[in-house]
Amino acid sequence: MYSEKVMEHFSNPRNVGELENADGVGEVGNAHCGDIMKIYLKVENDVIVDVRFKTFGCGAAIATSSIATEMIKGKTIDEALQLTNKAVVEALDGLPAPKVHCSVLAEEAVKAAIEDYKNKQSKK
Ligand code: FES
Repeated sequence: MYSEKVMEHFSNPRNVGELENADGVGEVGNAHCGDIMKIYLKVENDVIVDVRFKTFGCGAAIATSSIATEMIKGKTIDEALQLTNKAVVEALDGLPAPKVHCSVLAEEAVKAAIEDYKNKQSKK
């Protein structure tokens, strides 16, 4: 039911944890399944130099957060904003239909963290 990529990211998730003094933090949840995803960003000169995630959720949510962090690391803020849940699903070689919302959570968490970063920047 799950692709090898999903299983691999679920068993060996990348960039797990928190970042102290993160420049942006985004937390989103899905009211339906109750899963929660949090993403921390470290940004230098508009480039995401480091990223971590904490996901209290299903295996697919862990796999989508893991791959999403890899996809935005080293990218500019504008590039990271282009990340779609569709791209996350493609990068994982697909997700079963009932699990597509987990990838939406990953897109939303990245966007929420960037929004937080932008808010903090505008207050500087
Ligand atoms: Fe809801 Fe995976 S079941 S995020």
